[in-house]
Amino acid sequence: MTQDDAITVEPLDADAARAAIPALAGILADAVDSGASVGFMHWNGPSDYVAFWTGVAADVAAGRTILFAARQGADVLGTAQLQLIGKPNQPHRAEIAKVLVHSSARRRGLGAALMQAAEAAARQAKRDLLVLDTDEHGAARQLYGKLGWTELGTVPRYALMPDGSDCGSTFFYKDLR
Ligand SMILES: CC(C)(COP(=O)(O)OP(=O)(O)OC[C@H]1O[C@@H](n2cnc3c(N)ncnc32)[C@H](O)[C@@H]1OP(=O)(O)O)[C@@H](O)C(=O)NCCC(=O)NCCS
Repeated sequence: MTQDDAITVEPLDADAARAAIPALAGILADAVDSGASVGFMHWNGPSDYVAFWTGVAADVAAGRTILFAARQGADVLGTAQLQLIGKPNQPHRAEIAKVLVHSSARRRGLGAALMQAAEAAARQAKRDLLVLDTDEHGAARQLYGKLGWTELGTVPRYALMPDGSDCGSTFFYKDLR
């Protein structure tokens, strides 16, 4: 992979999602190791990450989640999810989750490309209201602001950082209409 290779983002079907579990587990481990608050603690390990992505692959198979993989060259270097909300009174809404780019490939546009792919898929699935939340101090807060998301506010102490310290979560939405 070189920085000159084109960035590609593709949705993974259930078989491709299962096949990508080792790569996705590696990206999640890298995010936790780099101090990101993404649902896991410093003491979590490979089996936790494999279990997490196995669950995501099941959600893909069930049609609950659209899972994206970003590549630059052959390797999967980033991922994001569009979670389709199944509630009868929210047929128009979806959530974005687990936007992760490997620390070796950041600031090259993969995160933005993943978000654009997720928004395009949302439009195609007739979901025109998107919601997400992120670590108040993380780089993602800048990413979402740059991409036109509306910041609602921060809930203090919403989660923990991998080292156990407090982490506020900042909530965003985007109306695609
Ligand atoms: C957040 C994350 C996905 C961004 O991925 P990325 O591929 O580096 O993002 P991009 O290169 O597409 O950045 C697009 C824009 O977002 C903003 N941005 C991204 N990272 C930034 C940072 N560290 N500091 C400030 N702004 C940043 C910039 O405006 C950037 O545009 P620019 O590079 O032209 O200035 C990545 O840093 C990451 O995986 N972090 C750890 C996991 C995490 O916290 N995920 C969010 C969970 S909700």
